[in-house]
Amino acid sequence: MFAEGETVFLEDAEGKRHWLKVSFGMLKVQGLGAMDGSKLKGLDDGDRVTLVGREYTVFRPGAMDLIGSLERGAQIISPKDAATILMHCDVKSGDRVLEIGAGSGGLTTALLTAVGPTGHVHTMELKEENAKRTERNVARTGLDSRWSYSIGDAREADPGIDWQADALTMDMPDPWLALPNLDPLLRAGGRLCAYVPNMNQMESIVTALREAGYADVRALENIQRFMEVHPGGVRPSFDTLGHTAYLIFARKRAAPVTERAGESENRSQARFNKVKHASGDGPCPRIADSVK
Ligand SMILES: C[S@@+](CC[C@H](N)C(=O)[O-])C[C@H]1O[C@@H](n2cnc3c(N)ncnc32)[C@H](O)[C@@H]1O
Repeated sequence: MFAEGETVFLEDAEGKRHWLKVSFGMLKVQGLGAMDGSKLKGLDDGDRVTLVGREYTVFRPGAMDLIGSLERGAQIISPKDAATILMHCDVKSGDRVLEIGAGSGGLTTALLTAVGPTGHVHTMELKEENAKRTERNVARTGLDSRWSYSIGDAREADPGIDWQADALTMDMPDPWLALPNLDPLLRAGGRLCAYVPNMNQMESIVTALREAGYADVRALENIQRFMEVHPGGVRPSFDTLGHTAYLIFARKRAAPVTERAGESENRSQARFNKVKHASGDGPCPRIADSVK
């Protein structure tokens, strides 16, 4: 049964969605006006309800529905890529994730859904306006109790967490420059994902990860084709989204046992001294502004 305060959406026969927070008093629903919230009492996921003469189905949103409904500024991650990140980084209930690059909170929403009520996601974002937009989006989803954020440059600033992450995701233009700063915040055995739109960026982060001794370094691209299915006319959609970004994954190795006792910060940082690549300052480039 729906509880007061829960975020749900009403879907009409044409598939149009109206989002609302459940309340059993009078409700204002965008696009529908005021409605009697008591009609939602006793209803559950997928139930039908008639409001002002029209029938709607009430659904509890999943991560994909929530991502599709976000207020957007920076380009959000596509569901095909978010799903791949969750699987390759093994993000699951109770995990702690450090995310770089809030954008609009697309990946944040997928991560928050996956870590569940006992997990936590901390997002570090360079620009205050992106962090604030993500804060509004996360509040709307109702997943805010498992989320925190800080504003700063991941290449040098301290994200301000007092734990080591099970997974580190970096959706930023020059993740190889942030690696020396963030590596100590990923636990041994933890998984890392970098998400970059261009091949030269992919090469730089893969090289940096190899030089830093990460295991299982691999890179991939997801191409997903939607299908048009009509009686007598079945074909791939003309609107298929092709390239979005390259996904790079790796797993952190602990320091060799011989080095562990008394390992100084300098010593662990020494692994990164060789990592010197061109900086990709500026807003996160994605297809629209990077492939011209
Ligand atoms: C493409 S957006 C991320 C989109 C996000 N994953 C989503 O699904 O909505 C990249 C974000 O990384 C942030 N960013 C870029 N460089 C950064 C840095 N050095 N430290 C922290 N955040 C950075 C940008 O301000 C931008 O918000």
